[in-house]
Amino acid sequence: KKANITVIGSLNMDIVTKTSTIPKVGETVLGESFFTIPGGKGANQAVAAARLGANVKMVGRVGSDAFGSQLKDELHKQGINLDNVKPVTHSSTGVAAITLSNGDNSIIVVPGANYEVTPEVVLGVEDDIATSDMLLLQLEIPLDSVVEAVRVAKKHRVPVILNPAPFLVLPKEVLQNVDYLTPNEHELNLLISSYEWSDDELEQLRAKCIVTKGESGISFFEGKDQLIPSYKVDVVDTTGAGDSVNGALAVALGNGLSLKEACRFANAVGALTVTKLGAQGGMPTKSEVDSFLSERGEV
Ligand code: RIB
Ligand code: NA
Repeated sequence: KKANITVIGSLNMDIVTKTSTIPKVGETVLGESFFTIPGGKGANQAVAAARLGANVKMVGRVGSDAFGSQLKDELHKQGINLDNVKPVTHSSTGVAAITLSNGDNSIIVVPGANYEVTPEVVLGVEDDIATSDMLLLQLEIPLDSVVEAVRVAKKHRVPVILNPAPFLVLPKEVLQNVDYLTPNEHELNLLISSYEWSDDELEQLRAKCIVTKGESGISFFEGKDQLIPSYKVDVVDTTGAGDSVNGALAVALGNGLSLKEACRFANAVGALTVTKLGAQGGMPTKSEVDSFLSERGEV
């Protein structure tokens, strides 16, 4: 059976400059190349899940502009349901100014239309949430909307993965009401240090964290921290690697795989994603992941 996944989140056009030197304040350097490529954490995660074979519904907002239509076209090609990705008139499509240097990136996001994903928008898709196997959320839409989405999912007993990126301080109950949190190491430290946690609460928090550790791999908690080491691949672009992991986790956990199996699968998806340029570029299909794993004797 195909997992039904709803993603409520951002769509951005990624404005990518590749350079060997990152300019200091007041400095001008010559870059190597320039691209505009579809991105946004929400859209990236939706694409990852769709390529892995899930039925994906995206909920989001774009501007009434060229970037908005390009982003929708790209998601449409992946078979993602876009009934709830609507153009707004008062904001432009979200953009991310990305500097890519030696495979690593730094990003400035201007949310624009993504901030029109209001709590009312979330209430309007209650039926879609209620019929999902997994709800996937990030923090590039207003905080109140994330809060509302978690509330609606809980009401309908739909499991939630919250990717706390970019990090914002959410009400503590929201963290306690989601089933999985997928911080990177930096975000995990912020999750721990931004609140007062009792020992019990901290244990519960750790138990639901799946931590993406970049080159080191992915860790999850089962009695103790378990690390799944990353694969050695030729890194072209790490943008969206975490997003591909989130999409993969949603599919695997939505299909009832164990935490360990889901993390192993997601680890392979992340490895394949970084070998191609662009956040949504290189996100693998289910069969690409299967052959990657079998080449390594893992299936
Ligand atoms: O996680 C990567 C994404 O973050 C990029 O695609 C960019 O749009 C920012 O939202
Ligand atoms: Na990529």
